[in-house]
Amino acid sequence: MNKYNICLLKGDGIGPEIVNEAVKVLDCVADKYGFQVNYDEALLGGSAIDAKGTPLPQETIDKCKASDSVLLGAVGGPKWDKLPGKERPEAGLLGIRGALGLFANLRPAVIFEPLKSASPLKDEIIGDKLDVMVVRELTGGIYFGKRGRREADGEVEAYDTEQYKVSEIKRIAKVAFEMAMKRNKKLTSVDKANVLEASRLWRETVIEMSKDYPEVELNHLYVDNTAMQLVINPGQFDVILTNNIFGDILSDEASMISGSIGMLASASLSDSSLGLYEPIHGSAPDIAGQNIANPLATILSVAMMLKYSLNEPKAAEAIENAVNKVLAENRTPDIYEEGKNKVTCSEMGDLVCKALA
Ligand code: NAD
Ligand code: IPM
Ligand code: MN
Repeated sequence: MNKYNICLLKGDGIGPEIVNEAVKVLDCVADKYGFQVNYDEALLGGSAIDAKGTPLPQETIDKCKASDSVLLGAVGGPKWDKLPGKERPEAGLLGIRGALGLFANLRPAVIFEPLKSASPLKDEIIGDKLDVMVVRELTGGIYFGKRGRREADGEVEAYDTEQYKVSEIKRIAKVAFEMAMKRNKKLTSVDKANVLEASRLWRETVIEMSKDYPEVELNHLYVDNTAMQLVINPGQFDVILTNNIFGDILSDEASMISGSIGMLASASLSDSSLGLYEPIHGSAPDIAGQNIANPLATILSVAMMLKYSLNEPKAAEAIENAVNKVLAENRTPDIYEEGKNKVTCSEMGDLVCKALA
């Protein structure tokens, strides 16, 4: 029997609630498909600051490295918002992405059939189906460039630096081209090459790499235009390749294609099979502790883990099918529509398990 060691980083706010439901579903699917999952837990973000005085304890990095895969809830919250940048919960998240070399972040914006009417987009814009894969560079760019404050002309100036090496662009572009090859062979590279030097190098490098993928239809869009195109004509996109900060923003926007940010899963991948899986949303402090968060983004992140790190594609597909089935009748408040059953976070986890059985 295959055995997998999963490190859980429950995090802050709704993090523990949604991770508990995802674990419930992972246990159900493991039973059904005959593999075993062992869990370890580690602290990240605000909970780590409170317990250990740092958002990313060394023990957390060690436990993640010793595991087959990592499942994360979310970090952050008002309690820690006044801390200096390097001490904030979010610095822990950037730190673990860097420490595990998780340079490729896959964020699939898909619409589940029963949720078509929950999407804020009109039916004619959604069309038959929507399935956009955002490939976000995750360990470079302005998130990891030089930043600080200095004196300038007698006042304080703050700076953050957008910077990319050719090798960093190449490795993420490779992921996106390979992804496009497995899908509809269409790749849109998103940048701001009309203004930013790092974007010009990005575009040149992607064009150079496209020679190795003649079957992939490549186009380039500026990020401002992309933001608009995503709501007016999302069907034009197959794979979107973009940098760290544009990917962050565009994936929240793309999540609304699916009806709610509570639906969008993600996989953060490295050169090895070790990956970190998490919903794209945050710790939602406004609804934490009420058992009303949507756990499906985290549950679908488990499906991505089974597909990309654990090589259990059948179990992954079973979770996606179970989610589709459950959504026909049941909704957490963020995706609620009249005539459906309004369910809690934990009830949603139970229902997905039941649909798996
Ligand atoms: P957020 O994603 O936490 O919340 C935005 C809105 O979406 C809120 O109204 C929230 O209630 C709702 N929402 C989010 N997830 C939901 C879910 N699963 N079900 C139902 N509703 C959901 O973004 P924010 O409010 O900008 O950030 C809150 C905190 O989370 C901040 O500290 C931020 O830094 C952090 N954050 C962390 C991550 C992460 O850990 N990966 C991602 C984004 C934001
Ligand atoms: C995300 C989040 C993080 C990011 C923050 C919390 C550091 O918004 O995972 O999308 O910007 O990458
Ligand atoms: Mn984000």
